[in-house]
Amino acid sequence: MQLPNYKEASIRSKERVVKEQYKLPIEDRELGKNKTYFLKTYGCQMNEHDSENIQAMLEEMGFKESENYEHADLILLNTCSIRENAHNKAFGMLGRLKHLKQEKPDIIIGLCGCMAQEEGVIQEILTRYPQVNFVFGTHNLHRLPIVLKKYMDTNHQEIEVFSKEGNLIEGMPVKRMSPYKAYVNIIYGCDKFCTYCIVPYTRGKQRSRRKEDILQEIEELVKEGYQEVTLLGQNVNAYGKDLEENYGMEDLLEDVAKTNIPRIRFMTSHPWDFTDKMIEVIAKYPNIMKAIHLPVQSGSSRILRKMGRRYTKESYLELFDKIKKTVPNVSISTDIIVGFPGEEEEDFQETLDLVRHCKFDNAFTFIYSPRENTPASRLTDNTPLEVKEKRLQELNQLVNQYFLENNQKKVGNIEKVLVEGKNENGKTDLYGYTETNKLINFNGSSETIGKIVDVKVIDAKTWSLDGEICE
Ligand code: 5AD
Ligand code: SF4
Repeated sequence: MQLPNYKEASIRSKERVVKEQYKLPIEDRELGKNKTYFLKTYGCQMNEHDSENIQAMLEEMGFKESENYEHADLILLNTCSIRENAHNKAFGMLGRLKHLKQEKPDIIIGLCGCMAQEEGVIQEILTRYPQVNFVFGTHNLHRLPIVLKKYMDTNHQEIEVFSKEGNLIEGMPVKRMSPYKAYVNIIYGCDKFCTYCIVPYTRGKQRSRRKEDILQEIEELVKEGYQEVTLLGQNVNAYGKDLEENYGMEDLLEDVAKTNIPRIRFMTSHPWDFTDKMIEVIAKYPNIMKAIHLPVQSGSSRILRKMGRRYTKESYLELFDKIKKTVPNVSISTDIIVGFPGEEEEDFQETLDLVRHCKFDNAFTFIYSPRENTPASRLTDNTPLEVKEKRLQELNQLVNQYFLENNQKKVGNIEKVLVEGKNENGKTDLYGYTETNKLINFNGSSETIGKIVDVKVIDAKTWSLDGEICE
């Protein structure tokens, strides 16, 4: 049993991470023979990609996927800690599984992901959720086979969560969700320590993958016919800062662009590490998509300081304007939190003003949610929830107005669209995404799925476009 420890999780050592090759122990190859698994994923793209590794590891062990958790022999929850509501969803599911386990005591229940790294969650599992049979954390994803086998051999609850990040694991198997679009990790962890954010504790210190490993993975994807890669990290712009050589995100983007993968996306960018060189590289290469996710969080410099964001409203706007000027037709999306402790009406109005200036193409908006052990969770918060909800509603109304306006500007354009699949219930046959990451629905042959085609935009809605394929 190894339990999480916050003190250890907040330490940032200068030690360089060592690379290690994944290998499934021979004795685990038959563990899942004639058994099925159900994997439920909560949270961000990072978790989705971890789940692609988890699925592949389970399948290497002989487990087969089940669509329905009630029929599976193994149920695994890959959890998220970012806000309370993600937390509650996972605990709600554990509640349901308690009943299932009473009916079917032989099923195996596991929990992993960010919640596994939380001291409070593990205490709750130890005291109130004996039906959870095994737990592993974000730093020992690759040890899933070992942790699972330990439980299966002993029938005792097995918890293995490392608080300190270990080696950087390469060569993990992966079962990709899409045959056209792939996630590629470039950097793990985060050293920014925004005061509201739990991620630096659940995902550990910043660790960049070696450029050779990233480029090799992408070259293979190109050979397999992939059309798009999304370079993933909590803060991709910090890529390379922990490596020995002088090689940063701008260099990596340029090298990835040269692989000839048709489309490159990356997320998430912290405004702090966004260099001029990066902006130039994005502008220069046609296969780097002109869609940037640039979370602002608040339009008030006073609140930004309390959030530990390291920029002011003015410096964010300066960067924003520079990107807009240098990269023609770029679309910029953002994340905004309302109701951070101490946010006054004036601060909120500044956020609205910033939105009016930026006219974001997309925005994810949230009410602040206090997270265990974060500095912001210790701040006094006098704003009633109703006020926060009203602010969120007002903000959503404003951002939606700009989504629609931006979409309307696209009407009449011919856009390059990666066709992703059939619309099961919609009015049109197909859907895909434009270069600037806009969802577009249109009629066409299913033979275009997985290809990049020209589509003329004929109508705009708040969250999507309607189009007509150009023959
Ligand atoms: N409360 C609300 N939103 C949060 N986010 C991160 N932590 C919190 C929190 N404690 C939001 C930020 C971040 C996005 C991924 O989630 O906006 O950019
Ligand atoms: Fe959280 Fe900040 Fe890291 Fe983003 S950059 S994950 S907001 S600490």
